[in-house]
Amino acid sequence: MSTGREFVGPYRLFHLIRAGALFEIWAVRPVAENTVYAMKWLPPGVHHSRTAAAELKHEYSVGKTLDHPSVIKTFDYGTGKDGTYMVMEFFKTPNLKQQINEGADRLHFRLEAILVAAAKALDYMHDQGWVHRDIKPDNYLVREDNEVRLIDFNLSQKIKKGLAKVFGGKGKIQGTYSYMAPEQIRGKHLDERSDIYSFGCMVYELLTGKLPFTANNSNELLNKHLKAKPPQLSVLNKNVQPEFATLVNRMLAKDPADRPGTLKEFMVDLKRGRCFYIKPKPVDVDSE
Ligand SMILES: Nc1ncnc2c1ncn2[C@@H]1O[C@H](COP(=O)(O)OP(=O)(O)OP(=O)(O)O)[C@@H](O)[C@H]1O
Ligand SMILES: [Mg+2]
Repeated sequence: MSTGREFVGPYRLFHLIRAGALFEIWAVRPVAENTVYAMKWLPPGVHHSRTAAAELKHEYSVGKTLDHPSVIKTFDYGTGKDGTYMVMEFFKTPNLKQQINEGADRLHFRLEAILVAAAKALDYMHDQGWVHRDIKPDNYLVREDNEVRLIDFNLSQKIKKGLAKVFGGKGKIQGTYSYMAPEQIRGKHLDERSDIYSFGCMVYELLTGKLPFTANNSNELLNKHLKAKPPQLSVLNKNVQPEFATLVNRMLAKDPADRPGTLKEFMVDLKRGRCFYIKPKPVDVDSE
């Protein structure tokens, strides 16, 4: 962490939200304004590589094109002696992974609302021609009133169409192993269905509290994404309706052609209450 600094560009650092390997996320305030924003910042110094700065600029330029109530708003970008930074809407809440770690079942009574908003955000990105490439609960911010924001467009790419598909795929594995689609692992052409696979992994985790695939090392994990069948969802959570479990399983199909082509069917099923048999009740945390 870069201590002692008060300003980055025209923004006053307010409090540190998270320090990652490369980037720091801060709540900031512009000098001339009272609004709080969030800043993703690559401080000057050893980690300030050209590649990392270019990634942040890319994230800014993707975010700038997106305008949806469940997608984080991106506002500003700067680079100079204070390093490189991107400024976005501040959405004060733990990310969805942190909330799963507190117990996925605590989210079940409001899971349908959360998932509809999460799916809408991703479906919007797809409609705009983007593949997110890093769909996972860490990249969804979910507030107690079920407001959702999709974040982190670091890896996002325009979906290639037509002939460009053939030349796509550089073979470099990028993304998060636990949520990674087989074609992403193989470095092949990606489209919205790769995100749908990752989204399916996240839904599975939210419903069961467990990832569809776990392993002792990354090779074994990637192999399971390529070849293994996940443990049966409706056995792990008996309150999930079999048709809904089948839909989630289709999202996890190895071949993108066997997955739903969009998230629209998923959203319809959720809105019609086809997920749970019995509507889950809020878990009373105090009485546990
Ligand atoms: N706009 C925001 N408002 C509030 N919190 C945010 C915001 N953006 C990011 N965060 C918090 O910071 C975390 C990391 O952000 P992000 O995913 O953009 O960075 P990252 O490069 O993936 O970092 P890491 O590798 O540490 O996950 C998020 O999971 C969330 O907890
Ligand atoms: Mg992230």
